[in-house]
Amino acid sequence: MSAPNRCDRTVAWGALKGHFEAHGRDLDLREAFARDPGRFDSFAVQAPQVFADLSKNRWDLATRQLLLDLARECGLEARRDAMLAGEPINTTEGRAVLHTALRAPAGQGPFSAEVHEVLNRMLAYAETVRDTASSGIRHVVNIGIGGSDLGPQMVVPALDAFVHPAITMHFVSNVDGHDITPVLRGLKPSETLFIIASKTFTTQETMANAQVARDWFVANGGTDVARHFVATTTNIAAAAKFGIEHTFGFWDWVGGRYSLWSAIGLPIAIAIGSEHFRALLAGAHAMDRHFATAPLQANLPALLGLLDVWYRNFHGFGSRSVAPYHQGLKRLPAYLQQLEMESNGKQVDLAGEALPFGTSPVVWGEPGTNGQHAYFQMLHQGTDVIPVEFIAVKTPTHAHADLHRKLLANCLAQSQALMLGKSTEQALGEKAPTASAELDAQTVARHRTFPGNRPSTTLVLDRLTPESLGALIALYEHRVFTSGVVWGINSFDQWGVELGKALCNDLLPRLASGDTAGLDGSTAGLLKRLTAA
Ligand code: F6P
Repeated sequence: MSAPNRCDRTVAWGALKGHFEAHGRDLDLREAFARDPGRFDSFAVQAPQVFADLSKNRWDLATRQLLLDLARECGLEARRDAMLAGEPINTTEGRAVLHTALRAPAGQGPFSAEVHEVLNRMLAYAETVRDTASSGIRHVVNIGIGGSDLGPQMVVPALDAFVHPAITMHFVSNVDGHDITPVLRGLKPSETLFIIASKTFTTQETMANAQVARDWFVANGGTDVARHFVATTTNIAAAAKFGIEHTFGFWDWVGGRYSLWSAIGLPIAIAIGSEHFRALLAGAHAMDRHFATAPLQANLPALLGLLDVWYRNFHGFGSRSVAPYHQGLKRLPAYLQQLEMESNGKQVDLAGEALPFGTSPVVWGEPGTNGQHAYFQMLHQGTDVIPVEFIAVKTPTHAHADLHRKLLANCLAQSQALMLGKSTEQALGEKAPTASAELDAQTVARHRTFPGNRPSTTLVLDRLTPESLGALIALYEHRVFTSGVVWGINSFDQWGVELGKALCNDLLPRLASGDTAGLDGSTAGLLKRLTAA
């Protein structure tokens, strides 16, 4: 398939520039709501399992129309269809991008027979592990990093209400021994299952931790390595060489950061069971269908991706904060960092030409309300405008109705405060009892002024269930795809992590020998300091 039309070479891009100067830069949300009582409805989008309020964003209907024109000119729909059909759109790795095939019902989508053979086998295995009476397994340790860790590590706590009560899930990712040491401390080999999760089965961190786990297992009287170690990988031969007989495979067309739907999801399947795992897949599939078929003006992943382009390339906002108002989603920001920044942190287009515009924003955040007592100060009064994405869940799985009302009130109050702000005049009318007597009232009021007009999106789920979580994750995947298509980049490779890996291989023996020959001055100085007797 031919390369898409890069955004900055389209007619719509020029039109958006003009529109931004005339109406975009100075759009005031408070005035926009005052002018248009129907604004909420105009910018409300219902996708499967996810409702979105896009009305507190700094755009208007004309902006949205021009962004949709941009998407069409960039060939978003054709590119999407090419991805879904399994065309090799990951050109630098010569691969198709088919994580959507992993959640298609049996008999539908590419590679259905292979996908469902592994899925059925994996889910059957998960059920045998969950039968703790016969398996004796009470602890499952997933050893993997990046995409072989972040998905399961994010999903398992999110679905805590569905997790097997007698099995504790652990996640070890870092090559720092401070990660695995406390995990192993409380375990018994006879009750522990290790999942070695690595697409390539070559990743340094994972291989090193797997070796530590196996040594610990044997040293502590563990027998039957074959029963207590399984692998999830595309490299079955390397797993066998490591001594693992029981393996669940997947394919090179599953990107690491898109792999929780594959065998990499085994820890999730063990935690929540096969029925719920299938519901997770079904939720994602529903969002895939929405992305594939909804008209662009009602297509939530497309709209979010286009809004990201509007903010990054026209408003110049360099970051986006994600604030899930659900403690179970505490690892969502970390998961999204890999999904978005590893996918779209690129500086050249598909043809290898340097890009004259910005790509991935920095994505960061913490669950609310905790974030409110940490970095929200900057969101409200800092010098940078940072769009915020709130995620609210209508009905909790706990019984503390009062806590939940407080949580939701906080969530609504934050997006309201960001938008409404507080003028110096308003602040002047308030008492500031703690201010020093030396400060005049105007000065105090200026400290207590909020500029407002700070944009946010609120995503609402009815409940956090396997199905709605599947839909939410797929929503993010397709949103990242959308902005990647508009920017004309390859969202599916990650060459930026390779250089560090190569240099690490050079430095590793030097840490033992202390040899600094040929190193730059800073690295040599640091190496000496770290290896000094
Ligand atoms: O960080 C680079 C990366 O290749 C990620 O894309 C991937 O998810 C991670 O390393 C782990 O790779 P593997 O699953 O092959 O161990």
